[in-house]
Amino acid sequence: MNVYDGERIGELLGARGLTAAGEGEDADLVVLNTCHIREKAAEKVYSDIGRLNRKDGSSPMIAVAGCVAQAEGEEISRRAPSVDIVVGPQAYHRLPDLIARAARGEAAVDTDMPAISKFDHLPRRPTQPRPTAFLSVQEGCDKFCTYCVVPYTRGAEISRPWGDIIDEAKALVDGGAREITLLGQNVNAWTSVDDSGRKQGLDGLIRALDALTGLERIRYTTSHPNDMTQGLIDAHADVAALMPYLHLPVQSGSSRMLKAMNRSHSRESYLEIIARVRQARPDIAISGDFIVGFPGESDADFEDTLSIVRETGYAAAFSFKYSPRPGTPAAEMDDQIPAEVMNERLQRLQALLAEQSQAFNAASVGKTCAIMLERTGRKPGQLIGKSPWLQSVHIDGAGHAIGDLVEVELVSAGPNSLAGVKTRKVAA
Ligand code: 5AD
Ligand code: SF4
Repeated sequence: MNVYDGERIGELLGARGLTAAGEGEDADLVVLNTCHIREKAAEKVYSDIGRLNRKDGSSPMIAVAGCVAQAEGEEISRRAPSVDIVVGPQAYHRLPDLIARAARGEAAVDTDMPAISKFDHLPRRPTQPRPTAFLSVQEGCDKFCTYCVVPYTRGAEISRPWGDIIDEAKALVDGGAREITLLGQNVNAWTSVDDSGRKQGLDGLIRALDALTGLERIRYTTSHPNDMTQGLIDAHADVAALMPYLHLPVQSGSSRMLKAMNRSHSRESYLEIIARVRQARPDIAISGDFIVGFPGESDADFEDTLSIVRETGYAAAFSFKYSPRPGTPAAEMDDQIPAEVMNERLQRLQALLAEQSQAFNAASVGKTCAIMLERTGRKPGQLIGKSPWLQSVHIDGAGHAIGDLVEVELVSAGPNSLAGVKTRKVAA
């Protein structure tokens, strides 16, 4: 979502006549779009700000945007006086005004969560530099997992209206996008009413987007297990453009930990959802997020996480050490886990997850599938695209261009990518 927000900020400023600079130090304005999810990400902002200071002591105009801005507000300019603007994730459409204020030497801090959505103030999407595009459909979260800052920094759960999303999707496709990834902190909680007043969930939106000519592929991320409706699961069975990939974070395999995390699902209910998803789409790639070392996590709880990984079989995953975040209930809990224990658990978990993703890639060898070419590879003439299962596949790109959908046979697998050989061109 920060990539999406960064693009929209760039488009907004571009519409005001600003152009992109090469390097931070040469720019007149630098916007740092920040993440507050773990301490490491939040602290990185301050070292980035430090690096923008020029030798003569001056600096470009610096705007800190995103969730660190929301969480820390004016505290940021106190800690880093070279910061001119602080703007939260729901207020960045006001950047032009904040820039004008900062240029006059006035305070420019905006961490409002305005009732009128920023989306109403952003320019229409321009031509896409890539065939793949992100589209935010849902923001914020009401789930309040006890470790997580998102409900505080992104605000309450909101769904963008049906018509606005369809219009933005059309603009993206007109601008050259052939694949759209729908985004939300709880994307599968998205809900709205369609043009005829019928209530719709994410599956309805996916079916409507499937009807857009020129849009070949649809993805969505991130989903919460409790919002995984049967309608959405069914869409995986019968919407061909919906790619067979599901990012469904479980966080822990221990129902005791899940309760302490306020996840409102259990180990068993998660596994039951995965089984139904696999029934609908047997080849689906499952990915997940994991936290090790949540307060009170015992060896047995951690073993439950390893065993849910073995039972589920992940094609990809993101795993993190628990990071206490200011203002969240878990940060105040007893029995915080020592760093050495967390490190050891993370290593074991990551070794297992790496083994699984390599096994998933190896099992793909011999399959024929379409890949969407997205970028050039390291070797001359090479092009890299994504398989339906979101694996990177490199091919000899002769006769092809970025944006092509090419049918390939997957012929070998490495740890991070596969090699493909063209069978025939599906569509230009
Ligand atoms: N510490 C570690 N990981 C976290 N995540 C969210 N909050 C924290 C935290 N305090 C992880 C979760 C979530 C992902 C986006 O980040 O796994 O799914
Ligand atoms: Fe954070 Fe996701 Fe839990 Fe919401 S559902 S509080 S975004 S981890």
